[in-house]
Amino acid sequence: MSTVIKNGTIVTADLTYQADVLIEGGVITAIGPDLRGDEVLDATGCYVMPGGIDPHTHLEMPFMGTYSSDDFESGTRAALAGGTTMVVDFALPAPGQGLLDALSMWHNKSGRANCDYSYHMAITWWGEQVFDEMKAVVDQGITSFKHFMAYKGALMVNDDELFASFRRCADLGALAMVHAENGDVVAELSARLLAEGNCGPEAHAYSRPPQVEGEATNRAIMIADMAAVPLYVVHTSCEEAHEAIRRARMLGKRVWGEPLIQHLTLDESEYLHPDWDHAARRVMSPPFRNKQHQDSLWAGLQSGSLSVVATDHCAFTTDQKRFGMNDFTRIPNGTGGLEDRMPMLWTHGVNTGRLTPNEFVAVTSTNIAKILNCYPKKGAVLVGADADLVVWDPEKTKVISAGSQQSAIDYNVFEGKEVKGLPRYTLTRGQVAVADGEIRTQEGHGQFVAREPRPAVNRALSAWKELTAPRPVERSGIPATGV
Ligand code: URP
Ligand code: ZN
Ligand code: ZN
Ligand code: ZN
Repeated sequence: MSTVIKNGTIVTADLTYQADVLIEGGVITAIGPDLRGDEVLDATGCYVMPGGIDPHTHLEMPFMGTYSSDDFESGTRAALAGGTTMVVDFALPAPGQGLLDALSMWHNKSGRANCDYSYHMAITWWGEQVFDEMKAVVDQGITSFKHFMAYKGALMVNDDELFASFRRCADLGALAMVHAENGDVVAELSARLLAEGNCGPEAHAYSRPPQVEGEATNRAIMIADMAAVPLYVVHTSCEEAHEAIRRARMLGKRVWGEPLIQHLTLDESEYLHPDWDHAARRVMSPPFRNKQHQDSLWAGLQSGSLSVVATDHCAFTTDQKRFGMNDFTRIPNGTGGLEDRMPMLWTHGVNTGRLTPNEFVAVTSTNIAKILNCYPKKGAVLVGADADLVVWDPEKTKVISAGSQQSAIDYNVFEGKEVKGLPRYTLTRGQVAVADGEIRTQEGHGQFVAREPRPAVNRALSAWKELTAPRPVERSGIPATGV
């Protein structure tokens, strides 16, 4: 059976033009005028774009004494409802657990996915077994490794471990990733706040000022430079971190920054809300920031110093958040956003004139497909690409509400916000998963996307190699060797 999307305007990261799209066997087989197919999807008045890729989700993840409440079924259903057709989740070994063991756990969970998915592997401890298994993980198509510089005493790795793992990534042609916050300082500030009687959700934000993120981002960049590995910085939330990324990129280093839709559109005043639940539901790391930081993130997306908009979707119910009722350090960290990322970014990015539709496609899909080496299978409207597509209606509106969301939790951090710009259709490998608000997802339809490694490329790396390469010893200007 073939499907044709008719009368739409194709929008990619670099082109806007009118054409129909023919889909057969889950891939795009033709793009052009007057195409015919068995099933016709009308895209009159709509943009036909690559489906979104959310490279930062935590589905059914054990964390802070509980599990995040969206699993691969509800999480990917939420994704598709909002125009996202691929997620990249973090396989997270418990400290001491083998990477391959964790990976098989994640493969079991993701069997229920409604859309395609890949993983990053988290490095939560260091040892010979981890070193060895990193190669096996790459051989299985997982070519990005995430490191937590925060969550001291749980997931955090120290600088010696970071450097060792980064060098291993470089040798394997893998991408290094970091959650960049100075975990030692956070632990110290948290203890002090608690001792002073500051137990509420607002203290979570006080314990993680922009400086802890700026310092760790800069440190990770310098360590990555010495290890000669490209670096992806997740959830970049403030000017201090953005500044470090901007500077690295201007020096030719392969460093990418990823702001979240939450940090772009919600600010720190949320933590001063008189309702404890309201504030606790928004506790995540890094915390929401003030308007200057938000402006910095938007400027980064406009200028290209920041590359990707993600969600870090890590959803906890109100009951789970209440574990930290008397101690903010026990509030499970994380917020949802999978269903709302694309509509919120369109509303606050494209409708305000900050981003062009092409830039929207770049930061929600194409850039990350290239960074993670799954382009043009994903992130493209090209013949041969997977038919992961969204038919986007720029006139369609709704008010975001937990009552009508796909996510399994009982609230939404964007509750009450009106969005303009929503999917008319979302297609996952050619299959219509969302049609005019009707959800037709199919549990288990999603497939794992394996990714190839590639040689590490980092300009500063070559400078470092020159500095450290063995040189002949010179005496009085006369070379001692090589004569
Ligand atoms: O608060 C957050 N971001 N929770 C999810 C885990 C992480 O740090 O990304
Ligand atoms: Zn993180
Ligand atoms: Zn509230
Ligand atoms: Zn995360």
